[in-house]
Amino acid sequence: MTMRVLHVAAEVFPLVKTGGLADVVAALPAAQAEQGADVRLLLPGLPPVLEAVQGARTIIDIGACFGALRVRLLLARMPGTGLPVYVVDAPYLYRRGGSPYQDSQGEEWPDNLQRFALLGWVAAHLAAEDADPQWVPDIVHAHDWHAAMACAFMAEHTPTAAASVFTVHNLAFQGLFAMHDWAMLGLASRLMSPAGLEFHGQLSFMKAGLKFADRVTTVSPTYAREITTHEFGCGLDGVIRGRGADVCGILNGIDCEIWNPATDAAIAARYDAERLAGKAQCKRALQAELGLDTEAGALVLAVVSRLTAQKGLDLVLAALPELVRQGVQFAVQGTGEPALEAAFRMAQQAHPGRVHVHIGYDEARAHRLVAGADVIAVPSRFEPCGLTQMYGLRYGTLPVVRRVGGLADTVIDLDAQPDGTGFCFDAATPLALAQAVQRAVRRHADEPAWRAAMVRAMAAPLSWAQPARAYQALYGRALAARRA
Ligand code: ADP
Ligand code: GLC
Repeated sequence: MTMRVLHVAAEVFPLVKTGGLADVVAALPAAQAEQGADVRLLLPGLPPVLEAVQGARTIIDIGACFGALRVRLLLARMPGTGLPVYVVDAPYLYRRGGSPYQDSQGEEWPDNLQRFALLGWVAAHLAAEDADPQWVPDIVHAHDWHAAMACAFMAEHTPTAAASVFTVHNLAFQGLFAMHDWAMLGLASRLMSPAGLEFHGQLSFMKAGLKFADRVTTVSPTYAREITTHEFGCGLDGVIRGRGADVCGILNGIDCEIWNPATDAAIAARYDAERLAGKAQCKRALQAELGLDTEAGALVLAVVSRLTAQKGLDLVLAALPELVRQGVQFAVQGTGEPALEAAFRMAQQAHPGRVHVHIGYDEARAHRLVAGADVIAVPSRFEPCGLTQMYGLRYGTLPVVRRVGGLADTVIDLDAQPDGTGFCFDAATPLALAQAVQRAVRRHADEPAWRAAMVRAMAAPLSWAQPARAYQALYGRALAARRA
C-alpha cells in the first residue's frame, strides 16, 4: 500500500527559513516521495509561500475562523520538487512581513495562538476526510510546536483513522500562551489540565504534540535520550519520560544535491574526494574575499549560525584572542542576539586580517564559507541535530563540536578513533573549545593525515535515504498504535 503522508510545518526551504527545520521540511518529503510514498505538505500562507507555489487552486472555502474572516485551503505545487502542497490562505493571520513567528522588532506575533492553532486544525480536518475528499493522509507528520496542535485535534476526533507523528526539532521553543485564550481552541475543557495542554499555568502547544501524537520523534538518538533528563528537558522531561518507548530519535540527513562540492555553483572551484585541489582554491578565494591574510598554512575556522545562547558562540568569542595569537583565522557569518552581533563585530575590528565577521543571512555565502574553511565550529550548549557540521563533513571541512545531541551522533573524534572525522569536546568552556581547536591546528600541520581525514569526512553517509526508511517504518508503528 502506498502510504499517504502529510507534512505540516511553518517553514520550508527555500521559501521560508529561519533554521534547519526548513531544510528538513524540504528534503525529507522529497526523499520519501522518491521511495514511493504519496507525500504532501501543509503550510501557512505566508507571503513568500503564496508567491512561490505553482498552480494554486482553491480546494475549500473555509470561511471565518480563529479570528480570520476569510480562510481558504489551496492546493498547489512546490517549486523545484513539484510536490503537492496545501496552503492555508488566511490573509488576516498570515499576510504580513517579518519572520513567521515574530514581528520586525523581534516580538512574538500577539496572535500566534490563532495563527498556529489554525494550521493544526486544518491538518486535522484533512486527516478527518472533510477538507479534501480527493486525498486523505494515513499519516500526519507535524513538525515542532507550530504544527503540534494537529495531534491534539486529531486525538480528540475519534473517527479519524490517520495516525499522527510529532517531531521535536527544538524543545526550547514551546509555543506557550495565556491560559485565558483556551476557549479559542474549541477543545474539551478536560484538556485544560496538566494531564493535557497546561504547562505551569500556561497553554503549551509543544505539549499537544508530546502528549497526543501517536509517536514522537526527535532529530537525533542522543537528543532523544537527553530530553528525558532535567538538564535538557526544558521542563518537559517528565512528559517525555511518560511516553516511554513512543519517543525515538531519527538522525536528520542533508540534501546532498544542494550541498555537493562537486557541483556547487556558489563556490570558487568544484572538488570531490579524488580531486581535492579545488578545496585549496576555495580557501584562497575565501581568504581573499574576506580580507584574511592569504596564508595557506593558517587554519581557517568557520562559523555559520544563528547567534543565540543555544549555539555556545560566547565560547568562540572568549577563546578567539588566544587562538588568533596562535595563528587561527576566523570566518563568521550569522544573525541573532544584538549583544552577540556586537561582540563579533568588535572581534573583527580587534583582529584585522585574522577575523572576518558578516552579520547577515546569505545562503550562497554560507556555501563559500563551508567550502573554503578548514574546520567548522559548532560549540552548542544543546543541539537537537545540527546540519552545519554535516555540511562541513560533506565539504571536507572538519567539524569542531561540543559532544551533545546530533553533534555527538555525527562527528567522530580524530584523536579518539582512527576513523575520526573531526574534533569533539565536552565541557561548555572556552578552554575546552580552545583545546579542541588546538588539536585541529596540530593535526592540520600533518598534511597527508589531514587529507585522509577530509576524505573520510566526505564519505560519511549523510543522505536522507536511510532516515526516510526509518520514518517509513515508524509510520507503520504509529498506524498500528492508532488502530489499537
Ligand atoms: P538551527 O536550526 O538550530 O539554526 P541547524 O544547524 O539545524 O541549526 O540549521 C541551520 C541552518 O541555517 C543551516 O542550513 C545553516 O546553513 C543555516 N544558517 C544559519 N545561519 C545562517 C546565515 N547567517 N547565513 C546562511 N545560512 C545560515
Ligand atoms: C532545530 C535544531 C537543530 C536541527 C534542526 C533541524 O532548529 O536546533 O539542531 O538540526 O532543527 O531538525
